[in-house]
Amino acid sequence: MNQPFIRVSGLKKYYQMGGTTVRALDGVDLEIEPHSFTVVMGPSGSGKSTLLYLLGGLDRPTAGEIWVDGQSLNDVDENSLALFRRRTIGFVFQSFNLIPSMTARENVAFPMQFAGANPRKRDEQADFLLKQVGLGDRASHRPTELSGGQQQRVAIARALVNDPKLILADEPTGNLDTASGAAIMQLLSDLHRSGRTVLVVTHDARMTRFATRQIYLLDGRVVSEAEYQSAVLEVASPA
Ligand SMILES: Nc1ncnc2c1ncn2[C@@H]1O[C@H](COP(=O)(O)OP(=O)(O)O)[C@@H](O)[C@H]1O
Ligand SMILES: [Mg+2]
Repeated sequence: MNQPFIRVSGLKKYYQMGGTTVRALDGVDLEIEPHSFTVVMGPSGSGKSTLLYLLGGLDRPTAGEIWVDGQSLNDVDENSLALFRRRTIGFVFQSFNLIPSMTARENVAFPMQFAGANPRKRDEQADFLLKQVGLGDRASHRPTELSGGQQQRVAIARALVNDPKLILADEPTGNLDTASGAAIMQLLSDLHRSGRTVLVVTHDARMTRFATRQIYLLDGRVVSEAEYQSAVLEVASPA
C-alpha cells in the first residue's frame, strides 16, 4: 500500500461555549491515499468544516495528530504552518470568497503577489488558470457579473495558483443550482484525474458519485455508511 497522503489519529477539537463543551470532533482516525478523491458526508454541525480546517492548517486541534504529505502539523510554528498552507493546500469555500472590486483575473492573480512574481507574469498565469476552468473569456468580469457557478470556477482557479497537491473544498456546491454544482464537481474530478488529492465535504448525496472514497461523519465521529444511513433516515422520518 502507498504511504497515506493524510494521516489523522485521535483528532479532537473542543470548543468551550459558556459552561458547556462543544465536541466538534471527538476522536477521528483517518488515512487518505495520495491521488484519491474523498467525499466527506455529514449533516450540518457534524464537524465537517472543523475537520477540513484542521487538515489545512487553518486551525489547531485540542488533541490528536495530523500528518499531511509526510509533514506533522502538530509541532510546527505559525510561519511553518503558513508556508505549508501556501505550498500544499488549495482551499475552496461554499461562499466563493472572491474580492468584489476585483476582476476574475485580479482575484486569481492576487495570491501570487506574495510569491513575488512580476505583475505581467501574474496576469498571464491567471489567464492560463482561468482558461483551465473554462473561463478564458471572463477574465475581465467582476464577481457580480458572473453566475454562482462561474464565481466558484474563479475561486478554484485561484486555489490552483501554487499548484497545490491537496485541494480542500468545503461544500463547494452548497450555493449552486444542481447543474452548476455537478459542473463544479466534474471540474474537481478533472483536477483529481490530473494527479491531485481532493477532499470535498458536502451534505449532498448526489456528489458522492465522483468520489473514490466516502467518509461519514456524525457528531464529530467517523461512522460506517450503514450507521450514517440509519441516522439520516431517522432524522428524515421520525417514528
Ligand atoms: N468557533 C466555534 N466556536 C464554538 N463552536 C463551534 C465553532 N466552530 C464550530 N463549532 C461547533 O462545532 C460543531 C461542528 O461544526 P462544523 O465543523 O462547522 O460542522 P459542519 O461543517 O459539519 O456543519 C457544531 O456544533 C458547531 O456549532
Ligand atoms: Mg460546515
